[in-house]
Amino acid sequence: MAGEGSARQFAEAGADLALVNVTKRFPGFTAIDDLSLTIPAGSFFALLGPSGCGKTTTLRLVAGLEEPTEGRIMIGGKDLTDTKAYQRPVNTVFQSYALFPHMSVLDNVMFGLRRRKIADAGQKAKEALDLVELGHVANRKPAQLSGGQQQRVALARALVNRPALLLLDEPLGALDLKLRRQMQLEIKDIQSEVGLTFLHVTHDQEEAMTMADTVAVMNQGKIEQMGPPEELYESPKTAFVATFLGQSNLFGGEVVSSTKDVISVAVAGKELRVPVDRAVAHRGKVTVGVRPEKVSLHQAEPATDSSRGVIGPGRVLDASFTGVSTQYLVDVPGFGEVTVFAQNTSHGEHAVEGDEVFLSWSVEHAFGLADMPPAEDRFLNDTSTGAMAVQEREKIEQELEGA
Ligand SMILES: Nc1ncnc2c1ncn2[C@@H]1O[C@H](COP(=O)(O)OP(=O)(O)OP(=O)(O)O)[C@@H](O)[C@H]1O
Ligand SMILES: [Mg+2]
Repeated sequence: MAGEGSARQFAEAGADLALVNVTKRFPGFTAIDDLSLTIPAGSFFALLGPSGCGKTTTLRLVAGLEEPTEGRIMIGGKDLTDTKAYQRPVNTVFQSYALFPHMSVLDNVMFGLRRRKIADAGQKAKEALDLVELGHVANRKPAQLSGGQQQRVALARALVNRPALLLLDEPLGALDLKLRRQMQLEIKDIQSEVGLTFLHVTHDQEEAMTMADTVAVMNQGKIEQMGPPEELYESPKTAFVATFLGQSNLFGGEVVSSTKDVISVAVAGKELRVPVDRAVAHRGKVTVGVRPEKVSLHQAEPATDSSRGVIGPGRVLDASFTGVSTQYLVDVPGFGEVTVFAQNTSHGEHAVEGDEVFLSWSVEHAFGLADMPPAEDRFLNDTSTGAMAVQEREKIEQELEGA
């Protein structure tokens, strides 16, 4: 990687980003709904959500390519809501890297600097290429590079402008899985080295968790939960987060008693305990959640233990060996199908399809939610075609009126 000097030069540019009550309405569709968030300078922030939830729209608003219907956009403490895109200290790396095919790699990186008549454009472009470890291919044409290398050129081209804020919109989408993983770590390294503020958009939960300091889970134009990856995984606050970020077993019930430490939720004749500080709601209907790798399998009913939640008996519907673990699907009457991930270590109990088993987990791993995922259609369909159709129709109507 490049020397200290250039890394520090880049670092000076990082700035924090704040979206304040931002709403974006397209004709017939609200893409962003009263969104507020602050991204501290120098952090790596991931916006994670399913297709159509409003990720690209958020980036376009920050970049100034789209105007918010309501709300303000602040970068480095300055209100830039009414500032033109090219005057914002922001660069974007899109999924399609769009390098100039007839120019050398170095000229591609230098292009923006030259246009702005920046001194030492050549030197700065070389430094940026060194940073992404491509100094040795500076004279090649983009077509002579691999996909991952082209992606890194696109990154160098954005970094060389020293934007206070770098926006990455699914920049790794075109790469194969292995290259993708490698680039994730490389981009993360580059970010820690240059210290700029990165806002990365993805629908890949593993990518968000690997790369970001902070992940915001977005659903239908709203942020459901935001925090360090571990916190989101271990303590999801909504059914959407619990099921979009990894898998969860969710059991709907009613709180029947509580102490200052735990609530007890009645589900299908059993009482499941949840630590008070891991439950979003403490009264009425509560959904008890537990991650599959936290659940243990037993061939016989385990002895009563107040520190463990126990359900069963149930029947093993499926046992799939996946290498590092075995994934079980167990049908437990009243609880539905429960997923269990069991590490493939020699100790620990195993089961085969058709076995009758009990399931248990440590109460401290349970979490309590105030909602349940909708029965069907857990991830609402991308309504883009509907919204586009409305727009198209309005355009035609306007044309007809004008004619
Ligand atoms: N110009 C537009 N006119 C109408 N609706 C739009 C427009 N641009 C985006 N939308 C709508 O806003 C919603 C959010 O779109 P956006 O591109 O932000 O999604 P995304 O989260 O980036 O999805 P993906 O993961 O598929 O890229 C979509 O459902 C789409 O219908
Ligand atoms: Mg998008």
